[in-house]
Amino acid sequence: MKKIVCKNYDEMSKKGAEIILEQIKEKSDSILGLATGSTPIGLYKCLRESGADFSKVSSFNLDEYYPLKKSNDQSYQYFMNDNLFNHVTMKSNDIPNGEATDTAAECKRYDEAIEAAGGIDLQLLGLGPNGHVGFNEPDDALSVGTHVVELTQSTIDANARFFASADDVPKKAITLGLGGIMKAKKILVLASGKNKAEIVRKMFSGEVTTQVPASLLQLHPDVTVIVDEEANGDK
Ligand code: GLP
Repeated sequence: MKKIVCKNYDEMSKKGAEIILEQIKEKSDSILGLATGSTPIGLYKCLRESGADFSKVSSFNLDEYYPLKKSNDQSYQYFMNDNLFNHVTMKSNDIPNGEATDTAAECKRYDEAIEAAGGIDLQLLGLGPNGHVGFNEPDDALSVGTHVVELTQSTIDANARFFASADDVPKKAITLGLGGIMKAKKILVLASGKNKAEIVRKMFSGEVTTQVPASLLQLHPDVTVIVDEEANGDK
């Protein structure tokens, strides 16, 4: 894994956007795997302001709360519309459907749609403070394909800041599995701030454990991790 250390959040965002823009320049019909959370907000701003042509680019998002209406302002659909999709014209955008009644069928549909599109060229990832990627939570075993996951209390608490209260955070989510993430040709991870330093350290530890899902990324042949100085810790 390659690590790029940036001075601060803005530099991290700019560097991350540059890598995505480079990808699109090389392959105008790239399939991007996109992420939500506070970490990539600056990167999306850089993409919006780049003036780049996204018209042949398709995207698949990592995850979505379940159940949650797309129109809810805390849905990842809403986040993506607000941060990117309403501002740039893209060929297509897909996100797991938090309104699906048959979740097994929705998970199957999602994996098949990614496969049919030709697979993800570049997957963007943030890191949960507990090491989750997408919503793949630490556990004894991790799922390969897209699946419904019960959120851990620590994730509900970490994400409660966006909702009126912790009780309003959905208890489940639909997420791409570790298999889906690892199938991406390239992976780009962003991490910013002191509360990510420990997880960044574990990610580079040389040890792989399902209790730190992000540590599995060490097995992927093409991962770039962009951190700011705070997330880089004391190294
Ligand atoms: C959520 C998302 C993750 C994201 C994480 C980190 O739980 N499911 O994909 O990486 O939040 O969020 P933040 O960037 O706000 O720290």
